[in-house]
Amino acid sequence: MKITIIGSGYVGLVSGICLAKIGHEVVCVDKLADKIFKLELGEIPIFEPNLKELLKEVVDAKRISFSTSLQEAIEACDVVFIAVGTPQGEDGSADLSYVFDAVKQIAQFSKNRKLIITKSTVPAGTGFEIKKLVKKINPNVEFLVASNPEFLREGSAIYDFMNPDRIVIGIEDEKSEEILREIYGYFGQEKIVVSDIITAELIKYAANSFLASKITFINEMANLCEKLGADVKKLAFAIGLDERIGGKFLNVGPGFGGSCFPKDILAILNIAKENGVDLSVIEAAKNSNDKRKVEMAQRAIDVLGGNVEGKKIALLGLAFKGNTDDIRYSPAIVIAKELLKKGAIVNAHDFEAIENSRLELEGFSNITFFEDYLQAILECDLIVIATEWKEYGKIDLEEVKKLTKSRKILDLRNLLDEKKVENAGFEYFYIGGKLV
Ligand code: UDX
Repeated sequence: MKITIIGSGYVGLVSGICLAKIGHEVVCVDKLADKIFKLELGEIPIFEPNLKELLKEVVDAKRISFSTSLQEAIEACDVVFIAVGTPQGEDGSADLSYVFDAVKQIAQFSKNRKLIITKSTVPAGTGFEIKKLVKKINPNVEFLVASNPEFLREGSAIYDFMNPDRIVIGIEDEKSEEILREIYGYFGQEKIVVSDIITAELIKYAANSFLASKITFINEMANLCEKLGADVKKLAFAIGLDERIGGKFLNVGPGFGGSCFPKDILAILNIAKENGVDLSVIEAAKNSNDKRKVEMAQRAIDVLGGNVEGKKIALLGLAFKGNTDDIRYSPAIVIAKELLKKGAIVNAHDFEAIENSRLELEGFSNITFFEDYLQAILECDLIVIATEWKEYGKIDLEEVKKLTKSRKILDLRNLLDEKKVENAGFEYFYIGGKLV
């Protein structure tokens, strides 16, 4: 199948490379010439494990190419995926301008029948808007519209694409279903869930809102465990064994961040408001999560006796989660800002997110970025683990002892083993553990 993907961001690029891997002929289009130039040289503009290697494989197999010319890419394909960004608009609703720009160009350049598929996360009802727009711009063009939301996670994007729990396709005619079944046949027809377009669009928001609420639920349980002296890890494990609940996404932490959950929650709340529907569970999850990030900074302040003025804090992790350079809505960034505002000196480390964080935190003078986390720890008063990079879980405590007299660790991702840390002579504070 000849596939064009508009938008070479996270979703577009990973989907394009993986669709080429399973045998399709793919053209990835982006209007940023610099990005396309780098991709043509085999360089990946994002940090995603194994993506560079997979790109090389599909380039060598001549199944993928890159272009800034939407016209050529549209003329040459049967199927167009729209995978452009749908950022948060000023009122919290999804900004669809990039999607509609892409649709206008598809309508303008199409000469034969195309299937237009949205992979971008779009509000329920966007499929109908796309149809109206194509008809308005080019009343004679033949086209079909479908929705195919993407569920991949940053940091494990290839694995998620290649091992889907399900593939959702929203269609309104048999031909679209047939084409999408052919595209995804590699994964087995039983993986495909067919619905109408509006339901498929909503499935994505519902899935993300549910997962974000699940994380918030366990974080609030951790708060209760801390007061009662109960063990939240054991609690999460035990409730997760119930198949109706499931053990995934029950890891406690400083709150969820990233480019999807916070944005999609706001968007679904907006859709609900417009339709006079109360989504109070999701709203509560959002508010609880926003509050939590600030509370986590307060924990660090409490560990240091209520005042961090002039205190040196090693902040391990800046990305919103491990295995990514993405800092969007990262709890670690909120924590850094709060501590800096309170007068702390922050020694920050991350394996991939330093460059992005430098820009985000450039207004603050008391922060230094370190490539080596042991250097960040040197002579600090407190170590705070804020991102779940697995390397932090293997930190050499004997080495740490040589670097600093401080014996305090605040582990906001519960990566370390309580007994080992305490046996090594540290005071250990973690989520669901003892309060200061
Ligand atoms: C999410 C969805 O998982 C994915 O299906 C969708 O396509 C895009 O949004 P992503 O944002 O890449 O993916 O990251 P994810 O792994 O879901 O984590 C989101 C946030 O939740 C991170 O801040 C992470 O640290 C946090 N999290 C996740 C927890 O605090 N606990 C968990 O158990 C899981």
